[in-house]
Amino acid sequence: MIKRFEMTGFVRELYSRIRRKFHITITSLFLLSMTSFVVVLGTFTLKLLVSKGSSSCFPKLNRFAPPPMSSPYSYIFSNFGFRSSLPHPPFNSSLESKTLIGAPDHNGTLHSVTDDRELMRRAVVVCPNVTESSENLTPKVAFMFLSRGSLPLAPLWEKFFMGNEGLYSIYIHKSPEFVDEPSVTSMFYKRKIPSKPVQWRSATMVDAERRLLANALLDCANERFVLLSEACIPLVNFTTVYNYLIHTNQSFIGSFDDPRPTGHGRYNKRMLPKVSLADWRRGSQWFEVNRKLTLNIISDEIYYPLFRNYCNPPCYVDEHYVPTLVNKISPELNTNRSITWVDWSKGGPHPTQYVRKDVSMELLNRIRQGFDCSYNGQTRSICFHFARKFHPNTLETLLRMAPALLGFN
Ligand SMILES: *[C@@H]1O[C@H](CO)[C@@H](O)[C@H](O)[C@H]1NC(C)=O
Ligand SMILES: *[C@@H]1O[C@H](CO)[C@@H](O)[C@H](O)[C@H]1NC(C)=O
Ligand SMILES: *[C@@H]1O[C@H](CO)[C@@H](O)[C@H](O)[C@H]1NC(C)=O
Ligand SMILES: *[C@@H]1O[C@H](CO)[C@@H](O)[C@H](O)[C@H]1NC(C)=O
Ligand SMILES: *[C@@H]1O[C@H](CO)[C@@H](O)[C@H](O)[C@H]1NC(C)=O
Ligand SMILES: *[C@@H]1O[C@H](CO)[C@@H](O)[C@H](O)[C@H]1NC(C)=O
Repeated sequence: MIKRFEMTGFVRELYSRIRRKFHITITSLFLLSMTSFVVVLGTFTLKLLVSKGSSSCFPKLNRFAPPPMSSPYSYIFSNFGFRSSLPHPPFNSSLESKTLIGAPDHNGTLHSVTDDRELMRRAVVVCPNVTESSENLTPKVAFMFLSRGSLPLAPLWEKFFMGNEGLYSIYIHKSPEFVDEPSVTSMFYKRKIPSKPVQWRSATMVDAERRLLANALLDCANERFVLLSEACIPLVNFTTVYNYLIHTNQSFIGSFDDPRPTGHGRYNKRMLPKVSLADWRRGSQWFEVNRKLTLNIISDEIYYPLFRNYCNPPCYVDEHYVPTLVNKISPELNTNRSITWVDWSKGGPHPTQYVRKDVSMELLNRIRQGFDCSYNGQTRSICFHFARKFHPNTLETLLRMAPALLGFN
């Protein structure tokens, strides 16, 4: 009797244990399948959004693999698929409104976005549908001045710009310690972007270039982007520059394969496999790019960190990053030459600086007309539209030559 009772008890306990276990298994199986369903659904939706976003808006961007989440600009990528497929980007800022772009705040800067990541994110999403010649906006050329302080040759540039309102925009990046502002009547009045300190030939230089590009992208009418320094001058009139840039789909980035120590010698194998020696290029810092390439440059998360980490002196990021990047992503859309003249013929770390006594019509004409270059498949006798480096003491002479040089009286 006792044994039987014990048996029954045992069986009952076993039965209930099995039931409990079975119940737990069923529950966990159910939970597991629900989870995987949600994951599959989520992935599918994400894929749909990303592919929609990238195919309609930024076809070039999907050439880049998704960046690691730790990288500083990663949320440009992690967000842009969603953002670009939403009718209204969910951020609220004055930059959203096109009418406010270019309206400076009271601190003498164009706006007060000082966080680079936020700036880049906005630059990528602000004009979702603008690609070259796709909208009814009159295309503009963005003139981006990367300068230490104020622009000593500004009066010459003002003559260059005069009468061409609506066809250009101006952006200035200058060291934060220079707080002086040009007069209210100047075209450079309150055209400063929120800027950060720049060390000569360090990656901070390219950071500043990217900051200028991102600011210029915020104006959806900007189609071409010229990087200039405070020592640059125009060599031809505005109309000539404008037509030259607007009527081509190529960019003007100096990019060549330099087998010498100044080229191959600066390559670092640690950039492999993303950047090989065969990809490695060198070129002038002073580039001119179109809107599509500008977007690629500011949203690049693959190559830029490699340059920041492994291109240290005597490797200079500003001489290698953009030339190598364009060679990797769209070599067919680059002329491989700069339109800004710089004289390196004397060697050394600095190019020739022209002072007052050097400046003559003869010098400028030699630079303007002394070379033949291919443009949209045809040979033209003009290559250079800008030139550097001109000392501030050349201003007076240049202004005197301006009527003959730039075609106005
Ligand atoms: C955006 O922010 C400003 C203040 O920063 C506010 O006045 C405005 O109503 C906001 N707009 C929207 C659409 O939330
Ligand atoms: C101007 O700068 C000051 C301090 O740098 C800051 O507190 C203020 O918000 C800025 N004003 C605007 C309109 O950005
Ligand atoms: C962008 O283009 C898409 C499809 O080409 C269109 O549906 C959408 O309305 C456009 N958005 C804007 C802001 O023009
Ligand atoms: C660039 O323009 C030329 C004509 O000037 C055209 O033949 C070529 O297909 C264009 N390339 C691209 C990628 O749009
Ligand atoms: C520029 O160089 C790349 C290789 O780096 C080449 O593919 C391209 O055709 C060159 N462009 C011109 C206009 O020569
Ligand atoms: C600009 O320069 C070109 C070439 O020298 C000339 O044909 C044209 O008339 C000039 N335009 C203006 C507005 O000065």
